[in-house]
Amino acid sequence: MLHSAVLNVMIKAVHRAGRSLKRDLGEVEHLQVSVKGPANFVTAADRRAEEIVYEELAKARPDYGFLGEEGGVREGSDKTHRWIVDPLDGTTNFLHGIPHFAVSIALERNGAVVAGVTYNPANDELFVAERGKGAFLNDQRIRVAARRKLGEAIVGCGLPHYGRGDLKASRKEIGAAQENFAGLRRYGAATLDLAWVAAGRLDAYWERDLSPWDIAAGVVLVREAGGFVSDIDGGDAFLTKGQVVAGNETMHRELTRLLREASREATTAQA
Ligand code: IPD
Ligand code: CA
Ligand code: CA
Repeated sequence: MLHSAVLNVMIKAVHRAGRSLKRDLGEVEHLQVSVKGPANFVTAADRRAEEIVYEELAKARPDYGFLGEEGGVREGSDKTHRWIVDPLDGTTNFLHGIPHFAVSIALERNGAVVAGVTYNPANDELFVAERGKGAFLNDQRIRVAARRKLGEAIVGCGLPHYGRGDLKASRKEIGAAQENFAGLRRYGAATLDLAWVAAGRLDAYWERDLSPWDIAAGVVLVREAGGFVSDIDGGDAFLTKGQVVAGNETMHRELTRLLREASREATTAQA
């Protein structure tokens, strides 16, 4: 399938980093049984993946800026373009040998995300989207699910780590979602949660306390698949607030409403 030059650059980068992670996953599986465990090895695998992505992107677009989870900001001379990269999303899954993790790259132009690529090397699923050109999974066009009844919908979410985020408020939100949807899922890789909304596997998804690299590529994927994405207040500040709600128009609207009600209740209860 024919992609734009910039998407080809992104695809090459996720494929190369993905090959490295897939090789490392084999080692991680062996290390589970060692006393030391795979933690240090995984940190190295993560950094290696980011260096590969950086190298590929910088080779093709040397002027663009770069924001990566591991290496932070690398300024570019072209101030209008910036890559946003999660070299290994789903680290905890990877650490446990669970084949649900991804390399994710987004391209920002003048502050707006215009292209996104998320790749799970474990099952070779490649999600790509570019603004105005549709969203694809392994070259097949994808669309968000059409379901309108909450009672039939499956919704992805995050679970805050103990001691991080507002546990009480998040329990309220999870409770509200449980009472209204058919089922909740916590898969552990935000970039794939968003890609799965784009592919119609999840009807909706929300999470708080995320970073820009968890969200950026998924925003284009979901929108190009005909879906809606916002922060929990319904605005466009998902990257700066680090929170996201996604789904088809109905699911997005209803989930946003439920979450807002839940956090209002949590605030009132605390007052
Ligand atoms: C994490 C995953 C996870 C989400 C966390 C993220 P990482 O990213 O996306 O699903 O719940 O909040 O930090 O650390 O595996 O790159
Ligand atoms: Ca991540
Ligand atoms: Ca990561």
